Amino acid sequence: MKPTPLYQQLADELAALMASGTLRSGERLPSIRQTRLARGCSAATVFQAYYLLESRGLLRAAPRSGYFVAPTPIPVPMRSQPPAEARPVEVSELVFQLLGSGGHEVPAPFGSAFPSPALFPLEKLRRALVAGSRKMSPAQLTADLPGGHEELRRQISLRYLRLGLAISPDEIVLTNGALEALNLSLQALTRPGDAVLVESPGFYAALQAIERLGLRAIEIPTDAAEGADLDGLAALLRQHAPNPPKACWLMSSFQNPLGSLMPPEKKRALVALLAAHDVTLIEDDVYAELHFSTQPPSPAKAFERDGQVLHCGSFSKCLAPGYRVGWVAAGRFAPQLQRLKLSSSLGGSWPAQAALAEYLQGGGFDHHLRGLRAALAQQRDAMLAAVARHFPAGTRMTRPQGGYFLWVELPDGCDSLALHAQALAEGISLAPGPMFSARHEFDRCLRLNYGQPWTADLEHAMARLGALALACRKTSVNAWPTSRTD
Ligand SMILES: Cc1ncc(COP(=O)(O)O)c(C=O)c1O
Repeated sequence: MKPTPLYQQLADELAALMASGTLRSGERLPSIRQTRLARGCSAATVFQAYYLLESRGLLRAAPRSGYFVAPTPIPVPMRSQPPAEARPVEVSELVFQLLGSGGHEVPAPFGSAFPSPALFPLEKLRRALVAGSRKMSPAQLTADLPGGHEELRRQISLRYLRLGLAISPDEIVLTNGALEALNLSLQALTRPGDAVLVESPGFYAALQAIERLGLRAIEIPTDAAEGADLDGLAALLRQHAPNPPKACWLMSSFQNPLGSLMPPEKKRALVALLAAHDVTLIEDDVYAELHFSTQPPSPAKAFERDGQVLHCGSFSKCLAPGYRVGWVAAGRFAPQLQRLKLSSSLGGSWPAQAALAEYLQGGGFDHHLRGLRAALAQQRDAMLAAVARHFPAGTRMTRPQGGYFLWVELPDGCDSLALHAQALAEGISLAPGPMFSARHEFDRCLRLNYGQPWTADLEHAMARLGALALACRKTSVNAWPTSRTD
């Protein structure tokens, strides 16, 4: 193993002092000269260490004053107090409008749902596609319907094994992205009119699926740090005991849009609570591979006892966007899911599945993931620092431990839908909070994507967005001086 460079050692030591609270927010660090003399190293080493900490958002350089510990993000408190009853959902119109407004193609695509293609091994995938297709015999083209490519299912099963889960390839149904896996799972568990538990705020596609299938949503208040509130969930389950919800669709790791991560014990408690009320969990785990810690988080499925969790995953976010390959580890529901898959789309795209099987067998996936995680962690820090630098005082934000979304709550008086329209006109997109709510709540919040390699142009766009937020706040406060409360 290569020895850790000196500047990195220094940066790590300082970061540890910040994490332990020895070095506090706003405190000045020893100057470059002082540190150079104290440690007997070169000025370049100290400068590089400080620069690294600055790029991670932990340090702030003030011209002619020195280096200061950056303010820690002010955590976003739990705002949602959804009504307890199950209600029909109408979000699709707003979501389609916002998705159709071109948020992916603008120069600063902070509203995009995807990370930059530059972060993916596209050339290696192309080669895997060619190699996989060469191996394809005509008989194989139809042999693996409807579960999907046998070797790919085996590879997915091997990845589960690394998390300590023994999942047979026969329990896995390959789908057109996780979105199909989630939709088919919901369809398998419900009939029109049934109630389904979802997070608030939560992934808009869950709300759209509920709307499309004629279901009703019960919203679980959800915390920006640790995810779904289990006390709130327990109260909802008690209240609905006579007519319990048929499913609970949620994300236990790197939730979209909050980025929250449930600790393992909370995942265990969640699974036990739902099982006690006979509610099946549809676990949306598409960001699982994008963790910033050394250990991957276990899914809630790791804590199930009686096959009550349908675990949905995807390669779209971590390896191959556009290939549209996802899956559901459906356990005892697998035959039902296979039938639904067969009747809705027969099967997935064989060449795309063969390419991913080929790529995974080749053994480069973990190497790619290490690079991707490091890049995303750095980009998160850069974006956190940019929000701290440029956004109005009183802005709160999350500090996600994985994924590529930051959830930002602007101060009172700001309206994220108005900000979205203004920013878009200047080539900056964002995902406004009301997209993530069955009742169009969270109008002061926005989801920002840090999946792009950080550049001076993106920093500039963040400065502009911050200025627009400040201006929009002034306008709103002047327009409605007394009608807004926190
Ligand atoms: C939370 C969540 N689940 C599922 C999906 C869909 O994943 P896929 O692209 O594999 O269909 C997305 C994509 O944006 C997502 O953010």
